[in-house]
Amino acid sequence: MSNNFSTTQSGAPIASNEHSLTTGPDGVTALHDHVLLEKLAAFNRERVPERNPHAKGGGAFGELVVTEDVSAYTRAAVFQPGTTTEMLLRFSSVAGEQGSPDTWRDVRGYALRFYTTEGNYDIVGNNTPVFFIRDAMKFPDFIHSQKRLPGSALRDPDMQWDFWTLSPESAHQVTYLMGDRGLSKSWRHLNGYGSHTYQWINAAGDRFWVQYHFKSRQGVERLDADEAERLAGTDADYYRRDLHEAIERGELPIWDVFVQVMPYHEANTYRFNPFDLTKIWPHADYPLIKVGHYTLNRNPQNFFAEIEQAAFSPSNLVPGIGISPDKMLMARVFAYPDAQRNRIGTNYNQLPVNQPHAAEVHTNQHEGSMRYQFSDATVPTYSPNSLGGPVPDVDRAGEASWETDGALIRAAQTLHSEDDDFGQAGTLYRDVFDDAAKGRLQQVLIGQYSALTINAIKERFIWYWTQVDANLGRSLAVAVGAPAA
Ligand code: HEM
Repeated sequence: MSNNFSTTQSGAPIASNEHSLTTGPDGVTALHDHVLLEKLAAFNRERVPERNPHAKGGGAFGELVVTEDVSAYTRAAVFQPGTTTEMLLRFSSVAGEQGSPDTWRDVRGYALRFYTTEGNYDIVGNNTPVFFIRDAMKFPDFIHSQKRLPGSALRDPDMQWDFWTLSPESAHQVTYLMGDRGLSKSWRHLNGYGSHTYQWINAAGDRFWVQYHFKSRQGVERLDADEAERLAGTDADYYRRDLHEAIERGELPIWDVFVQVMPYHEANTYRFNPFDLTKIWPHADYPLIKVGHYTLNRNPQNFFAEIEQAAFSPSNLVPGIGISPDKMLMARVFAYPDAQRNRIGTNYNQLPVNQPHAAEVHTNQHEGSMRYQFSDATVPTYSPNSLGGPVPDVDRAGEASWETDGALIRAAQTLHSEDDDFGQAGTLYRDVFDDAAKGRLQQVLIGQYSALTINAIKERFIWYWTQVDANLGRSLAVAVGAPAA
């Protein structure tokens, strides 16, 4: 008898994996065939809801090495000189569902987890340094416009451009998306960004505002639009396959980690609102400061357990790192854990991929569906207590803080001297894109325009790109035979 025998979930040997229990070879199936029942029931429960958004993705584990000294800016253990930390990086598309082709034009998600000695630290960013909107109130509407029509369940260019052209703050990110960054050669060939402004706090309690940049040592390379279309039809998992195979070959992708650092008090007077997610901080104002690099060196052993069930969240912060008064970020700290309680289950943080690997958990939270980690029965689950339970420690927590005051209102954020919706989009187009990239953007936009069917949206499309750059708007109008804006 082999020792490698099949069992039920409760560990008992089973007699067959191929035959149901029936009354004779041709008879009815017995309701008490619990082996068959367990198999069918488990199958029915194999799927969890896919992420909404960022459903299609892939990722790998790796290691962060801090080669520089940024301790003047943060006390976070993960960023102290010489520290190495286990990590996970998941790449994704934003709009497409689980089975969607990797090479549809899209922004790419770039979600990082560092298993630090002070708890898990997540940076959930994208391959662009900005975003489409600046207030969380618009996020569900934005995602609806990128997904599918409620009636036909078709994706719809009219809906996408209706939202974008009525939301001019989207122009900077849409210029990235319609440009070369919308179609990367692979996940290995893109940069990542934290996109938001975060707060760093050093050992003396001094506060700084920071933005993260993760630069690919593989280079930033684009995919030709025709090639992307061909791949979408022939290899829907092109990016997922590329990353997996590169790591299996030992061709380990590396990203260098940089931050831009703004002294705390400069935020009030900076020429752009530094908490506006649609803006970058020009490097001339705040140069990149090197922190270290990370290498992806290990594919998941089980995609579902380690990637599908990974639950990244901007609320996973560690001492010496906090959020900022960015209206998107403040809402994201709610949105992710809430989505994950629904998507994975109440105790999703106990799964091996989500639990801290280098820190211990001591909370008063217990019970709930599927809980299997618990403290010794002598440890109280309430505070305050006099029985030696865990105690909060404000110094150890190292939380972020900022001054805030004012009437409770619903309003747009404060404008700084150079704030507008189109300025940085125009700079990106004129000063960062070379002539070839400008030409490719125009071709993409002509294609996008040709898919529009509603005249008012077509008119706003030409207006929108004229605001980004007058020459671009004019030449688009000529190319598509539309009146100039
Ligand atoms: C208020 C604005 C936003 C809301 C409410 C929101 C909400 C969500 C939700 C609910 C998920 C699915 C989470 C899960 O089921 O695990 C998600 C995934 C994701 N979001 Fe956001 N999001 C927002 C803005 C952003 C921004 C600004 C970025 C990038 C800068 C971003 C990047 C991502 C990424 C990369 C993922 C996939 C994470 C993974 O790989 O598991 N999101 N978002």
